[in-house]
Amino acid sequence: MSIITNLTRTWLTRSPKPFIFKNEYDEKLPFEPCENLGLYVHIPFCKSICNFCPYCKTLYSEEAMNRYIDALLREIRLVGEGHAEKKRVTSLYFGGGTPALAAGRMKELICELEKYFIITEGVGAELHPDNVNVQTLKTLKEAGVTKLSIGIQSFQEKYQSILGRKSVDVRAMSAALAEVSFETVSMDFIFALPEQTIDDLTSDIETAFANGANHIAIYPFIDFTFTKSRVRAMGNKQKHALLDKVTAYCAEKGYSRGTIWTFSREPHAGYSSMTRDNFLGFGCSATTLLREQFKINTFSVEEYIGRINAGKLPTSLTIRFTPRQRMLYYLFWTAYSTRVDPKDFEKFFGMQLKKMYGTELRLAKLLGFVKEENGVFVMTPKGAFYYHYYENFYTLAYIDKMWGIMRREAFPKEIRL
Ligand SMILES: C[S@@+](CC[C@H](N)C(=O)[O-])C[C@H]1O[C@@H](n2cnc3c(N)ncnc32)[C@H](O)[C@@H]1O
Ligand code: SF4
Repeated sequence: MSIITNLTRTWLTRSPKPFIFKNEYDEKLPFEPCENLGLYVHIPFCKSICNFCPYCKTLYSEEAMNRYIDALLREIRLVGEGHAEKKRVTSLYFGGGTPALAAGRMKELICELEKYFIITEGVGAELHPDNVNVQTLKTLKEAGVTKLSIGIQSFQEKYQSILGRKSVDVRAMSAALAEVSFETVSMDFIFALPEQTIDDLTSDIETAFANGANHIAIYPFIDFTFTKSRVRAMGNKQKHALLDKVTAYCAEKGYSRGTIWTFSREPHAGYSSMTRDNFLGFGCSATTLLREQFKINTFSVEEYIGRINAGKLPTSLTIRFTPRQRMLYYLFWTAYSTRVDPKDFEKFFGMQLKKMYGTELRLAKLLGFVKEENGVFVMTPKGAFYYHYYENFYTLAYIDKMWGIMRREAFPKEIRL
């Protein structure tokens, strides 16, 4: 597996140099020149822990949450202070863990961020279905949240029990969502679960749209090596067929594909914390992508709080990019939106996409992975499948390895990928 990712990396970065993440960091993050900058805040608390979940999370207690939020407020100040003007950013996303558990303190966090940033495209927050009640929704809305993402996984008892989740009270959820409105209500599903059929998925999609959602995310199940999940991943052939059927179903129904994993029923609905050129991440495990570097905060909640209390950033590792490595990161993240506009690439790098990756683009067209529409490269359903497929390799070769180490060591010396 790592042979494929190593060869691809060597080919696309035109260098055998691996991605080298080192235990060093900038105390002042150079985000001013970054256009199309997004914000991300990680809240690592959950009321119960799911075996299949790879994210940085820990069991909720009010006391632990409050200490953590106090540290987050300080991290925001450490990053934001010392800049002459407020920086315009696109959106702000709260991810986790279960950010809705911090609903009561979200206003404070948003106000602190607004001292340094002007948020132009709204605020998103993730919820567990248990959090979808009128009181929590009202608190989130009053704090400034405009988009919700609810982790359903599946409405079907069979898959809820395979995943070790409780059944969702659809009626109560639907009633709460009808009472408190949001611009986007997204529901997350996991696909490619054992023996899952297209009927299982279309039934989930329609249940979501009939009960308050205007947007859905369908994530392929990934079996991370460090989780205790006993769920078997579906074979690739079956997965390909299922993804093709879901894509065709959504196209037929007129649900538009916003990113590789997401479909919306209303044009204004959107939820994606990934498809941004640059982002600043706050909280444990949060990542930051800037013009010339990518950095990751420590995964340990205690070490995170310790660093912040010492007046330092909680960065664990930083990679300083070669220009080609940055291009690869750019293309990988932009491809999530299923479109790559050469004009945007040229604006970002001052170089023409066709000059840098002309052969690869011709090959992708020849293989039927992309087509050109008014000068923009648009991924075909075949391209989207292979992107999913490659992303699975990438996730297991890079993310699985990195997160596996970072869960064990708060500040590893170096990681080479
Ligand atoms: C942070 S959780 C969402 C909010 C909340 N904590 C919850 O579980 O309802 C983010 C989403 O990642 C997805 N996810 C988690 N583990 C996954 C895995 N192993 N493979 C694919 N998707 C996964 C799930 O769809 C989940 O809803
Ligand atoms: S899936 Fe959601 S609730 Fe479950 S452990 Fe992960 S973040 Fe927590």
